[in-house]
Amino acid sequence: MRITLTQPDDWHLHLREGIQMPSVLAATSRCFRRAIVMPNLKPAITTVNQALAYREQIVAALPANSSFNPLMTLYLTENMPVTEIGKLKDSEHVFAVKYYPAKATTNSEKGVVDIRRVWAIFEAMQDYDIPLLIHGEVTADSIDIFDRERVFIEEILDPLMEHFPSLRIVLEHITTKDAVEYVAIANDNLAATITAHHLLLNRNDIFKGGINPHHYCLPILKAERHRQALLKAATSGNPKFFLGTDSAPHALSAKESACGCAGIYSAPAALELYAEAFEQAEALDKLEGFASFYGADFYRLPRNTETVTLEKRTWQMPNDFEFGKEKVVPFRAGQAIAWQLR
Ligand code: DOR
Ligand code: ZN
Repeated sequence: MRITLTQPDDWHLHLREGIQMPSVLAATSRCFRRAIVMPNLKPAITTVNQALAYREQIVAALPANSSFNPLMTLYLTENMPVTEIGKLKDSEHVFAVKYYPAKATTNSEKGVVDIRRVWAIFEAMQDYDIPLLIHGEVTADSIDIFDRERVFIEEILDPLMEHFPSLRIVLEHITTKDAVEYVAIANDNLAATITAHHLLLNRNDIFKGGINPHHYCLPILKAERHRQALLKAATSGNPKFFLGTDSAPHALSAKESACGCAGIYSAPAALELYAEAFEQAEALDKLEGFASFYGADFYRLPRNTETVTLEKRTWQMPNDFEFGKEKVVPFRAGQAIAWQLR
């Protein structure tokens, strides 16, 4: 069996930088035409000038003849001047601002502690119609890790939406039934990305047969009923839900560690993994909208015109890939993948 789709885009991606970038970039650009590139480098990408320099680094590292287009984002800090939003608006390569609650995830130390301190930025973004991309988890130690997304929606997102009804927001990598329900009934300015790993795994997979650091990501994998809700949302044909892999490579040594980093490296089989999830839900006919149309529509960018073809054919994911001087272990390392990109 084969399916042909309009070429997809990845609306949430970590490419890293320097010598770690080329293999990661090749994995994404073999399939996706565009990707929204996350700014959580060290130091973080907080200005348009930094984003453009990072973009040049990405373009220089692309495989020959690639037409992959990296869409850049800025990392929101409490010190961001409002004038930066004006610069973003005038830039043809920077498309959004990413809001990390401080200490929510990898390299989020410079993120936002008190949302009131970035109110003026949100006002400017609303005026200029620039999308805000949100890592939606509260960070207080008192909140259970499995409740952090739900509490964020109640305490932060809902008041924010009320105050900025015209601000376009993407709730990134949603993981709960609560998020699915909230996004589905919210106004059309709110959309959400869903990862392949949150569609395919539940929290048992972190512990099955012994603790697996390669299944540790943030937001953390949730219970099966949440996975079922995500699967239903992704395959519903509702344009508020679209593809964002959150493919987040870390060196093997940083994952297989007493204090392992969060992130699942799914890029080497991203679209193939989504196809598995959609097939599981008997909804392969809904994959193209989710992967290739709804994200572009939300970002008000043209849909792609090329196509890609997936074949139902089992292959084995390598155990690891080059990652600068180290190795990176992909999702499903050494295991079977049911679909293959032609
Ligand atoms: O698992 C994750 N890894 N979640 C994030 O939010 C960040 C990402 C990363 O950059 O490693
Ligand atoms: Zn991410």
